[in-house]
Amino acid sequence: MTYNLVMIGFGAVGQGFAALLQNKAAELADRYGFQAKIIGVYTRRASLFCPDGLAIPALLAAAQQNDLTAYADHANLRRDLNAHYQITHPATSAVIEASLTNYVDAEPALGHIRTAFSHSKHVVTVNKGPIALAYGELAANARRSKCFFGYEGVVMGGTPCIRLAEAGLAGARIEAVRGIVNGTTNFILGKMEAGMAYAEALAEAQRLGYAEADPTADVEGFDAAGKIVILATLLFGAKLTVADVDRTGITQISMSDVQNALAAGQRWKLIASLQREKTENGERVLAKVSPERLPLSDPLAGIGGGGNAITYLTDTIGGVTLTGAGAGGKATGFAVLADLLAMHARYGN
Ligand code: HSE
Repeated sequence: MTYNLVMIGFGAVGQGFAALLQNKAAELADRYGFQAKIIGVYTRRASLFCPDGLAIPALLAAAQQNDLTAYADHANLRRDLNAHYQITHPATSAVIEASLTNYVDAEPALGHIRTAFSHSKHVVTVNKGPIALAYGELAANARRSKCFFGYEGVVMGGTPCIRLAEAGLAGARIEAVRGIVNGTTNFILGKMEAGMAYAEALAEAQRLGYAEADPTADVEGFDAAGKIVILATLLFGAKLTVADVDRTGITQISMSDVQNALAAGQRWKLIASLQREKTENGERVLAKVSPERLPLSDPLAGIGGGGNAITYLTDTIGGVTLTGAGAGGKATGFAVLADLLAMHARYGN
């Protein structure tokens, strides 16, 4: 089966996904009977749409030059269509929302996803805002429209922490969550241990495509808070907002703090956690993001670079820990691919 994809956003993640689609095309067709064309790309600066499919190598070459408008003309190519037109076009089968995350009102991604479901288009989002702010509404829209809604990439990039919790641990109750869910801050703290200045380490994380467009979201802990809110929503059904998270970032951690910890056989890590707490009326969920000084024997102390890790503490089989890449174009692009294959498994026949 061939799917026609419209991509909103074509930054590191969009490009990472497009490259995977190109490189794995034969394997995906052979193993899963899955084929896909990118028929539209819509960004803040460019709009490309062709129902016959856009040429991925040419898209990637233009994106490398930071100028999608450099994509060469070909038959049936349109450059004048807005996002709404692309999303709702009869040829579009699925929309990939990979534009910049906005934790304030989730727009314009939220509107794109609403539009897609109201026109019966499947959606895969790696944009965290809509899941953090409006998951309940969007999931209901998807069910009503009988559409697939994929969001594996919103926490831990392509490392499948959401699928593990929702499917692999179905039947177990997750009592608590603890992990490293922001790649940028983990990368910066690791580089500071090696003696690199904070600003230089942050610039390197930006160059690698780990950081948010405004890296304040990473270093002040907002991104980790957004992700822990997402996990509270998805795993606990809790109604938390980013403002409910007891949040501290890494900007107060100095080079000497990092070096002193290292000399004492310890490491600073930005830890995000969820804990259920009994109350008179039932229970509440406590959410926290804060730097912690961990002994090297703590498994989370061993997570290096842009890596992430999460431990789900269950009532049934104790702790289950998943580690893997948490940020970057290829890793998060893989989450889009994994979601599309899940869509294909469910709706492909
Ligand atoms: N800025 C995020 C991080 C990207 O560093 O983890 C992945 O969500």
